[in-house]
This record gives sequence, structure tokens and C-alpha cells, in this order.
Amino acid sequence: MANKDDQQAKNLHNKNQHSKDWKTKLIHSDAEVPQGFHSLATPVYRGSTVLFDEAAAANDHWNQHEVGYTYGLYGTPTTLELAAKVCELERGFRTIITPGGQAAISFIHLALLQSGDHVLLPESIYGPNRMFSNGVLRRFGVEVGYYPPGAGAAIKNEFRSNTRLVWCESPGSITMEVQDIPAITQAAHAHGALTVLDNTWSAGIYLDAFAHGIDVTMQALTKYVGGHSDLLLGSVTVRDQGIFERLGEMHQTLGFAASPDDCSLALRGMKTMAVRLRAVEQAALALAQWLSGRPEIELVLHPALPSCPGHELWKRDFTGASGLFSIVFRPQYSKEQVLAFIDALRLFKIGYSWGGVTSLVMTYDMQSPKRPAYGSRLVRLYTGLEAIEDLIADVEQALGRLTTDQH
Ligand SMILES: Cc1ncc(COP(=O)(O)O)c(C=O)c1O
Repeated sequence: MANKDDQQAKNLHNKNQHSKDWKTKLIHSDAEVPQGFHSLATPVYRGSTVLFDEAAAANDHWNQHEVGYTYGLYGTPTTLELAAKVCELERGFRTIITPGGQAAISFIHLALLQSGDHVLLPESIYGPNRMFSNGVLRRFGVEVGYYPPGAGAAIKNEFRSNTRLVWCESPGSITMEVQDIPAITQAAHAHGALTVLDNTWSAGIYLDAFAHGIDVTMQALTKYVGGHSDLLLGSVTVRDQGIFERLGEMHQTLGFAASPDDCSLALRGMKTMAVRLRAVEQAALALAQWLSGRPEIELVLHPALPSCPGHELWKRDFTGASGLFSIVFRPQYSKEQVLAFIDALRLFKIGYSWGGVTSLVMTYDMQSPKRPAYGSRLVRLYTGLEAIEDLIADVEQALGRLTTDQH
């Protein structure tokens, strides 16, 4: 009987095959490939449309963990695998992947704030976060305030009755202040506000944000997780279901979909992240220590060195350091000399987006009255995977040029 059924099915199949026009076959093909391919790589599942088995099953809910797959915007198996792995490493409840780190920042603001609320950010916050807060949030009736990154428990003096969200970034962008996260989260929670941490510097590895009281973390996966300067992605990880619901709905409404191809590259990058992180940590520490002994340098802003504001907090809360730190030249060096030092570097390339395999350098002008008075003497360095002796030799020859130019 079974054989007869099989034969009938085959006949029908053949008939269908022959009866279809080639143009239909382009879309509804009966071509077959061998099954059972087992590989170590995550397949790249691209897809906008998701098919449902029956009309009654069709729905557009964003939470694929609850209802299964409904639309590529909310995740394909590739994007959700990256989300799950970031979440596992950060020890959160759930993670949502965004098209970049800055997208993760604006998405968090839009999901957790409304007109009439007050948000607090450290003075050391990543520049484009400040731009979004001042330029967009204020336009939509959100009050934006800034607090000194070293505030700790004293942040309570900055709270208003409508303070709903407190941002942290530790260490701070460019100036590298390490924050007292437990003190800040405790004060914020006592006031009924949520806390968010930009956890990009620690790659979500060296600071256990949720254990220190943070409610939401974000990372630019563009940096360490991608690891090769060839993709843009972000992540938002939450402590609990309640915050996940608020973010999930906003993610759907904003339409912040991430590319599965980029997610697949990030998944590949993640596999080597442990060895890359260890290598850049060692190189950055070696270079930072070497620079501490140089007469041209006033300050080395590396969280693992006592010269960095908040170093004691780094020792208390972090389990490692990454490859990004800053130096401040002594006051006698002019802006032109600092620029000449940068231009003299050969291995350190001039570029913003760190976390890859190439060493980078960038200069910043710190002119704001509320920021440390480093002026144009601050230079940010990122150590990549080049040999440390070559990196030190490169910095040494560039410093040598500085001295020669001075005389
Ligand atoms: C600390 C920090 N947060 C967020 C971002 C934004 O990430 P993306 O460049 O992926 O938008 C960056 C990028 O420079 C960053 O350094």
C-alpha cells in the first residue's frame, strides 16, 4: 500500500515538474540538494517574509521567543543567535541586536523616555549620545542633564522628581573616568529611575553590569565583537521581561533591523574574541606603562594605572582591561606639536572606530568648561594585534620627532 502511495506521489511530482513553466520554476523549484550538511559556521538566514502554515497562524508579534518567527525585522535565526550569545556573555535576560552602537543608544532613549521625563548622562558620555540627547530628546520635551562622571552616590543631588533614566559609561569615552556603578545604580533605584550602561569598552566581558545593579546595557558590537573593522552592529541587553517588553515594542515601531550578513560576521568575530581581547589588553598595558615613564607625557589615562581617575573602582569592579586608553601631553606642547606626533606615527592609523586588529590614534579638543582642562593635548590610542615592540618603537620615533621639532 505504502509503495502504491509513494508511486502516486512520484507521478504527481513528475507531472507537476513538467507542467510548470520555467518562470514558475524559478520561484517554486523542485530541485533537490543532499541533506545533512554539518559545519561549524552558523548559516546566514536572510529573510524579510516569514511563511505561516495556515492563515489563522499569521501574526505580526515582535517577540519571536514567544510566538515563533513572524517577520525578518524581529530576527532571523542568525540575528537571534548573535543576540542570545551576547546575552549569555553579559548575563542578561534578553538581547536585541541593532544596526549599530549609536542605533542602540537612540533606541534605548526612545523606548524608555517620554515627554516630561528627565534623563541624566555623565559629562564623559560618548559624543553622539550627547548629540542625540541635546538635539532630539530636548526637541521632544525630554529634560536632559549631565553629571560629573566621578559623582558616585552624590548623583542623588542631580535627581529631579521626573528623573527616569540614568546613563553610565565606564570608563568614559576619551577621558576614561571609571564610574562607581554600584553607588549610582543604588541611588537611581532608590529614586525609581532605571540605569543604562554603555558597556562597549569592556566588550560586555570585563564588567558584570547586571551584578552591579545596571538595568540595561548596550554595546557597539562594531568594536570588539566584530573585531575586524568591517561591520556596524549594536546590542541592547536587559535585566528583565518588563524592560524587554518596552524595548521590543519600540524596536518593532522604529524598524531597527540588523543585517543577518553582518550578524554572521559578528558571530565569527566572537569566536576569536577571547584571544584578541587578551592580546590587546597586554599590548595596551605595556604601551601605557612605557608611556608613563616618558617625559613628554603628563598623564596616562588607562583604567589599570593609578593615574586614571577611578582606578580604584576599576580594580574593585572590573576583571580586565581592554585596548583603548588616552594620554595627555605636558602643557608645553602645542596643538601643532601634538598633531605632528600623530602624523609621524606609522603603525597607528588615524581613525575613530577601534576594536579591530589595527592600532589606531585619534586627537580630541577638550574645550568644554565642565570637562578636564586637557585642551588639545589629549590623544587616544588603541592597540591592535601588531607586535608590541613594533608599536612601542613606532610611538618612540614619533615622540622623537616631537622633541626634534621643538628645538
Ligand atoms: C563607547 C561607544 N559607544 C557607542 C559607539 C557607537 O557605535 P557605532 O559606531 O557602532 O554606532 C561607539 C563608537 O565609537 C563607542 O565608542
